[in-house]
Amino acid sequence: MAVDDESRDRQSSVDERLGFHSVREELDTALAVEGSLPPWLDGRFVRNGPGLFEAGGRSIDHWFDGPALLRAFGFEPSGAGAGDGDGDGDGEDRVRYVDRFLRTDAYEAAREGRVAAAGFAEGDDRGLLDRLRSLVPEPTDNANADVARLGGAHVALTESPRAVRFDPATLETLGELDWRDDLPAGHTTPHLTPEPDGDGRVGYLTTFLPRASYRLFRVPAGEPRREEFARVPVDEPAYMHSLAVADRFAVLVEPPFAIPPHRVLTGDGPLLDRYEWHPQRGTRFVVVDRRTGAVVCEPRTAPFLPFHHANASRDGDELVLDTVAFDSPSVLDAMYVEEMRARPRDGDGGAGELRRYRVPLSGATPRTETLATDVAMPATDERRTGRRHRHVYAQRAADGPATEVVRVDVETGAVRAWDADAYVSEPVFVPRPDADGENDGDGDGDGGPPSTPDGAVLVELLDPDRERSAVAVLDAAGMTERARAWAPHALPFGFHGAYLDGG
Ligand SMILES: [Fe+2]
Repeated sequence: MAVDDESRDRQSSVDERLGFHSVREELDTALAVEGSLPPWLDGRFVRNGPGLFEAGGRSIDHWFDGPALLRAFGFEPSGAGAGDGDGDGDGEDRVRYVDRFLRTDAYEAAREGRVAAAGFAEGDDRGLLDRLRSLVPEPTDNANADVARLGGAHVALTESPRAVRFDPATLETLGELDWRDDLPAGHTTPHLTPEPDGDGRVGYLTTFLPRASYRLFRVPAGEPRREEFARVPVDEPAYMHSLAVADRFAVLVEPPFAIPPHRVLTGDGPLLDRYEWHPQRGTRFVVVDRRTGAVVCEPRTAPFLPFHHANASRDGDELVLDTVAFDSPSVLDAMYVEEMRARPRDGDGGAGELRRYRVPLSGATPRTETLATDVAMPATDERRTGRRHRHVYAQRAADGPATEVVRVDVETGAVRAWDADAYVSEPVFVPRPDADGENDGDGDGDGGPPSTPDGAVLVELLDPDRERSAVAVLDAAGMTERARAWAPHALPFGFHGAYLDGG
């Protein structure tokens, strides 16, 4: 390796370490805005992610396991209220910034240095990751993956069913969401997909014992209740992270990364390490009719592992599903903090391929094509969930942490990139409130999504040179930066977020 390469790798390691530092102070402050906010952008961009990476002198091993730090960028455009009313960026725009740890058992334990000694029945060697995955005897409350308005509350979510309520303005923890149903504990998804034909959200959980199954449910708007609509028995449950909704169907994309149920109880080490990759089984699409609960078809294709689906829809006799695919579960190993901090990046870290799968409802073999490479954390216009969409937003990173946000036009294949010159989070698309993306946004009468999006793309930045984080507001049509506001400190790499309007 040349000296320059060594020096670059060392520097890159220092930079990435900033993404895995522990946050020591909680903030509530006003940020100045560079540029101008859209006058209609007056909600909050709330994000979630780990905020502590050591406890009691011990490092937290896996990126998934740091206690949740919520952060909120509350937009106050001058055009929306007390300002001069023209939204022309004359310096009166503000962002109210708050960050706060979720007060959970996991947080208190970490603060007291009890990360590795939580007092669970299986002994003291079980790390946080184990507890995150393991649902016996008690799932974690470290809800550090996503936020949503769910069941009548604002909640933080992770792969455990323990959702934690918070106040979106102050980020104060309000206690655990009390599910008013009889569903058992299980491994669940932090991403509940909006219903295209209702106000609820759709999710699933995996139970392991006594009989393993995927339990699909809907959560009606305003009620903390999961209504089960389908139960799919499975011999060896797979590690899954999200589901897709397409028209009246729900789709589980099941990779051949599976665990014999008894190993949940009898194995050693982190639960995640007990899943095994069986590429010969292929990846299975389990298509469920949400009205009847029946499995309509379950075709298999060449093996891949999905985390996040962009969206899905029905096109005649087949479903069209856009997802970010990884060739193997090694992406999970790459998320151990020591790996991410120290390892010179070789390009096979956290980025996958945005692929389109066409799944015939007849059960015939799905077909696939690649829409974009080196991407992660896909997002679409949520109003199009379950129906045909036009644009997918994502991080793009060929090597190391992502520094670009891309917009992929899934009809033309055109990719438009915005280079942040800093690390970028998952992008979130926010439609302009009166923009008609819902039915026929471009007025061409085809009932499809508009060819040019009308709205903003929100992204959290981490600048390793300035050692500070920021929020950036992009114009979705041009994928150009419109505004940016710097927080007083650096935030470690986070996971997901949402734009919460209306308080
Ligand atoms: Fe996720």
